[in-house]
Amino acid sequence: MSSIGQIKKVAGPLVIATGMGDANMSDVVRVSDERLIGEIIEMHGDEASVQVYEETSGLKPGQPVESIGSPMSVELGPGLIKSIYDGIQRPLAKILEATGTNLLPRGVEVDSLDRDAVWTFEPTVEAGTKVVEGDIIGTVQETEVVVQKIMVPVGINGELTSIKGGDYTVTDVIAQVTDDNGTVHDLTLMQKWPVRRGRPYKEKLNPDVPLKSGQRVIDALFPIAKGGVAAIPGPFGSGKTVVQHQLAKWADADIVVYIGCGERGNEMTDVLNEFPELLDPKSGKSLMERTILIANTSDMPVAAREASIYTGITIAEYFRDMGYSVALMADSTSRWAEALREMSGRLEEMPGEEGYPAYLGSRLASFYERAGRVISLGSEGREGALSVIGAVSPAGGDISEPVTQATLRIVKVFWSLDSSLAYARHFPAINWLTSYSLYQDDIVKWFNQNVDEDWGMLRGRMMSLLQDEAELDEIVKLVGMDALSAGDRLKLEAARSIREDYLHQDAFHEIDTYSSSEKEVLLMRLILSFYDKALDTLNEGVSIEKIVNMPVREEIGRFKYIHENDIEAEAKRIDDELKSELSKLIEEKEEF
Ligand SMILES: Nc1ncnc2c1ncn2[C@@H]1O[C@H](COP(=O)(O)OP(=O)(O)O)[C@@H](O)[C@H]1O
Ligand SMILES: [Mg+2]
Repeated sequence: MSSIGQIKKVAGPLVIATGMGDANMSDVVRVSDERLIGEIIEMHGDEASVQVYEETSGLKPGQPVESIGSPMSVELGPGLIKSIYDGIQRPLAKILEATGTNLLPRGVEVDSLDRDAVWTFEPTVEAGTKVVEGDIIGTVQETEVVVQKIMVPVGINGELTSIKGGDYTVTDVIAQVTDDNGTVHDLTLMQKWPVRRGRPYKEKLNPDVPLKSGQRVIDALFPIAKGGVAAIPGPFGSGKTVVQHQLAKWADADIVVYIGCGERGNEMTDVLNEFPELLDPKSGKSLMERTILIANTSDMPVAAREASIYTGITIAEYFRDMGYSVALMADSTSRWAEALREMSGRLEEMPGEEGYPAYLGSRLASFYERAGRVISLGSEGREGALSVIGAVSPAGGDISEPVTQATLRIVKVFWSLDSSLAYARHFPAINWLTSYSLYQDDIVKWFNQNVDEDWGMLRGRMMSLLQDEAELDEIVKLVGMDALSAGDRLKLEAARSIREDYLHQDAFHEIDTYSSSEKEVLLMRLILSFYDKALDTLNEGVSIEKIVNMPVREEIGRFKYIHENDIEAEAKRIDDELKSELSKLIEEKEEF
């Protein structure tokens, strides 16, 4: 039911309105004759606190505030993929084209899904079928790579009394369901869902399948599962955005939702320019064909930033419900938390740590909880997954601050970006000693079974060499390199090779930007093969200097730049070369 009150007070993006007794929490409201879009975030009697998603300058007490009687919702249906939306799902692309800026004129009514676009609907069930909520009744080929499954909306069960294939707009009736009470429900290609409420599913499954990223340090050392939750904290310039972009580009997800949240506008422009050019290694098609962008950059209204992560995750859940693997990136959740803090301050709530509201942790948790690997609603029980990866940007890189701490209590993967690694141009600057993944055991099992039975062994050996290196480094600092045994020096060389030849990965190199699991395993094997064989040679009495300076080591270092088509042959060739160089060293020694 709609209800009209009036402005009592304006404080930045917050408007207090009276006479709103008939309105509800989370209702969308229109503020003033300019009809600015807002949402009720608190109710006290007939007084509503409204978060306004547009610039509020010029608003005055006495101006009308109208509730439209329904909660903040997104439109879900064909036309989502390839879209670029702002934090409240207004399509930015068209405005961007026309005006060259992100800034929408105030109060504009724009449909999230294009009302004129025509989609070909192909039914997959016949009239007369009994259907339940979540059942798929047909498909629309939305882009070259994405088939949108048209689902019976939540809350509707009954008999499909009519359904017809053909060309439709998102608001045309494509089918009808008659429920047990005889009520007829018109189904369209589009449905709506309130953003603050997670979309329901039947059951959560253990996330034990990897979301392969093509990033070696992630896949091998700190993997994320499909349906998993990860955080990337790091100071400015440490590579958070590049990691997020790499995941958006290369993760083996069917659908990617990328939320640019309070970061610089030019980073979104980079995405917009870059993604259409990039090809998905799986489909060979443009990456935009599976991507949805939500942009609420730092130059856009702060309140819409708060909403943007809910808009994004609701869209992501919708594709999860179709049975897809969806990956969502939010860059940065710290900027989101700042928006939350600003609203809380305006509401004059009791501030918690560093001015953040006391509910910061529970808000973050309820966002990340919407991730998961699930069995969807519907009679066939599809499996879908929604993985969530949030960047966190603590001021000065101090991870003891509240947003990082609250996030770390929730997520299961922690990619700790390190400014000293970034400074040394070791990218991705993921610190191998402080990062972790709680999915590791399950995912190692998966890789052992599906990629290579030695995956876990190789991974474990790399990890322990890196840990040994850290301990040896301490000793070297105290007593110098000369104090180390030849065996320990070789260990340091192997660890260096792991860091430089394996972990280091150039996001901007045409080939190195993505590694298949097969390539990852071949490279792990090569580096460890060097270590094992060199150790044998060392034990035969060959000097460590000779081993360190073997030419084949450079070839191992260049293996990451080898094209995926040639990796098997090259790995074999390099390993043979390694053997022959080492036996030459032994022969030379014996000649003396
Ligand atoms: N994997 C990578 N490969 C190459 N360069 C990188 C990589 N990651 C980060 N960089 C470099 O670091 C810079 C800063 O990274 P960025 O992701 O923008 O940092 P943040 O988002 O943490 O502020 C990038 O512009 C790029 O030059
Ligand atoms: Mg960034």
